Formats: sequence, C-alpha cells, structure tokens
Amino acid sequence: MINFKELAATYKTPLYVYDLDYMSAQYEELKSAFKGRKSIMAFAIKSNSNLSVIKHFATLGSGADCVSIGEVYRAVLAGVPNYKIIFSGVGKSDDEITQAIKLDILYINVESEAELGRVELIAKELGAKCRISIRVNPNIDPQTHPYISTGLHDNKFGVEIDTAKRMYIKANNSEYLDPVGIHFHIGSQLTELKPIYESAEIVADLVRSLQNIKIELKFFDIGGGLGVKYKDETTITPYDYAQAILSTLKGLDLTVICEPGRFLTANGGYFLTKVLYEKRNGDKRFVVVDGGMNDLLRPSLYKAYHKIEAITESLTKLSEADVVGPVCESGDFFAKGYLLPTLEHNDLLVIHSAGAYGFGMGSNYNTRGRSAEVAIKGKEVKLIRKREEFEDLIALEKEYLDN
Ligand code: LLP
Repeated sequence: MINFKELAATYKTPLYVYDLDYMSAQYEELKSAFKGRKSIMAFAIKSNSNLSVIKHFATLGSGADCVSIGEVYRAVLAGVPNYKIIFSGVGKSDDEITQAIKLDILYINVESEAELGRVELIAKELGAKCRISIRVNPNIDPQTHPYISTGLHDNKFGVEIDTAKRMYIKANNSEYLDPVGIHFHIGSQLTELKPIYESAEIVADLVRSLQNIKIELKFFDIGGGLGVKYKDETTITPYDYAQAILSTLKGLDLTVICEPGRFLTANGGYFLTKVLYEKRNGDKRFVVVDGGMNDLLRPSLYKAYHKIEAITESLTKLSEADVVGPVCESGDFFAKGYLLPTLEHNDLLVIHSAGAYGFGMGSNYNTRGRSAEVAIKGKEVKLIRKREEFEDLIALEKEYLDN
C-alpha cells in the first residue's frame, strides 16, 4: 500500500507518484506473452517521458518508441541502446531525420512517400544507408475514442497498402535506404481484439507479397495501443493479444516489435492533489483542488474517466460534486458529478491511472509550474523531477525584458 498522505506531506502537492514495481510487472507480463518468438518491447516514451522511468524500462531490456528527436535523446540519455530506438511520427523535420541517421538508431518509421524521399536525400548527403520501416494504415476502425484512433484512411497516419508496396520497391532499389521493417498502429486504449487481428493479417499479407518480390523484412512492428482499465472496461489480456498477432505470422521469420505505452504506465501512476475549498453555485457542488488541467489534461480533453479516491476523516454522506482546478477555464475539471463526502481544506484526493499521458501532456498555462514527480521502487521513494518554480518558467524570457 502506498502511503499517499506521507508522500503529499513530504513532497507537497500537486504531485505525480509512479510505482515502478507495478510497471516492471506489466512489462514482464507483456514481454513473456511473446515468448517463443524474437521480440523487442519498445516503450512508447510519449506516455511517460521522465528520464528515470525510461531508465527503469531500459534496465528491464526495453527499447524506445520515440516521436521527436527530443524523445530520441531522452531515450539515449536514459540508457536505451541506439539499436533499440525507433523514430516514428508523421512530420519529422530534416534536422530530426539527420540526427536520427547520425545516431544509427534501429530504424526510422516512414509515414509518407514524400518523407521517404527526404530520408533518402538526407541519407545520401550523409553517405549513409538508413534503415527504415513503413507505417501502413490498414483502414481498420479500432473502436476507440476518435482523438486516439489512427488506423483509418480518415486519420493522418501511415500510408495505404498499395502506396506502401511502391515505397518498399523504391527503398529496396535505393543505395541509401534499407527497408527492414513494417509498422502499424491503429489507435490507443484498444479494448477489442478483432481490429488488431484484422490489421495484423493485412500487414502480414503485405509482408508475404513483398517476399514474393524478394524484399525480405526483419521486423514486424505492431505499434502500441493495448487498453487498460480506468473504470470497468473489459480489456484484452497480453496473452490473447500476442496469440492474435502471432497467429497471423505463421511461416514468417520476423522479430516482433511492440510499442506499449499506456499498458506499462497508466495504472502505475497517481496524481495527488489537495482540496482547497468546497463551494456551491445554487444546487451545484464544486470541490476546488490545487491541481489543474495543466497538470492532467485527459479529463478536459477526452472527458476521460479517472477514479478519484478521497483521503479524509470526513464521515459525511456522499453527494455529487464536480472536482475542478484553479485554471481559468470551465473545462478545467477532473470529474463531473463524482460521489464524494464533504471535504475539508487540505484533504487529499488521489487521482488514479495517471501514469500515462499525465505529466507529459502538462503545460505551464496560467503560469503554473508543473508538479514534482516521485518514483517508488520496493521500499525506496525518490524524487525524479523537481517541482517547477516561478524562476524556471520565466528563464527563457527574462533577458529580453529590457530590450
Ligand atoms: N506507437 C505509436 C506509433 C503511437 O502513436 C502510440 C500512441 C503508441 C505506440 C503508444 O500507444 P499506447 O500503448 O500508449 O496506447 N494522449 C492520448 C493517447 C495518445 C496516443 C498516441 N499514440 C491519451 O491520453 O489517451
């Protein structure tokens, strides 16, 4: 049991708390579901990019799935070997491509014909041969929130099968490109197995048709997306997930690459925030807390549900309240109509499932410093990011004040 009260007293609030032992267990469960096949788990560091969290996964043998050169450098700094780093994303700049090629990472995930052209040109200028993978958009509805759906032609991600094939032929004929992988990622927080299986089948068929024209790939990159329980969702087990994928790969000698983010981190993270005030507007009850949408954006952005646990002496009856932050936006809330007892100043609320897309989606809106982050491993608790102070927020502006 994590002693949230003690953590809040020591490190103050708002505060992110990560349970690294939970994250290890999730990692091992997913990794072992793919046993019997060569596989690399490449932690999607966008879900939680704290250096100590990345380092934790690197120590377990994880690679990293990155979507900016900044993330690539985070992975390198945290000790992920370059040969386990993947660089994805629809809009890589020339500079990012150049640096990724120089770092000799596992491969660049290419998302358009135009990008393939840029990568080839840059590799040529550098006198390099760049390993690439192509992100295929299988046009399958992943049945998740529209904002985190990526595998339909309506979405900006990846290329159609025919385009992908053309790109593989071009890459295979290029002196500067080495097509080693194929990639798909149809969305996040997936709770239905069928769309994953169907996508894998489509992509595996493309691998076979490439084999027929003597293009041999090594890596079958299935992206991330495995959903987790926030409330009462029925989730896919890692075993069923792996079985569904592996069943499409019969007869193919490919290393499976998986890019899990949320599955590894979401339920290993907690956001701690203190009650400032209770207030009423007519019949409506509000609990105002010291954390805001700048700390944890998911409820505001996706109307995402996060369980809230109140740590209080209050024995009053539960009644519905909106839990809101101090940010000047009506959309600044963690929950609406949540059943809570009457709360006192300084009572603690623990917002669950905050380990993925929590701190990383934070901002300094309203000139609010981002919260501190702490990690728990065994009996040890350590600070892994200092709370931002006012001076940190103005550091890049101050010198221009007098100009
Ligand atoms: N690989 C690729 C290419 C991705 O685009 C993503 C997530 C992942 C892996 C990791 O997906 P995961 O295993 O975490 O589902 N901010 C949203 C989620 C955005 C996901 C973007 N891509 C949220 O808070 O729900």
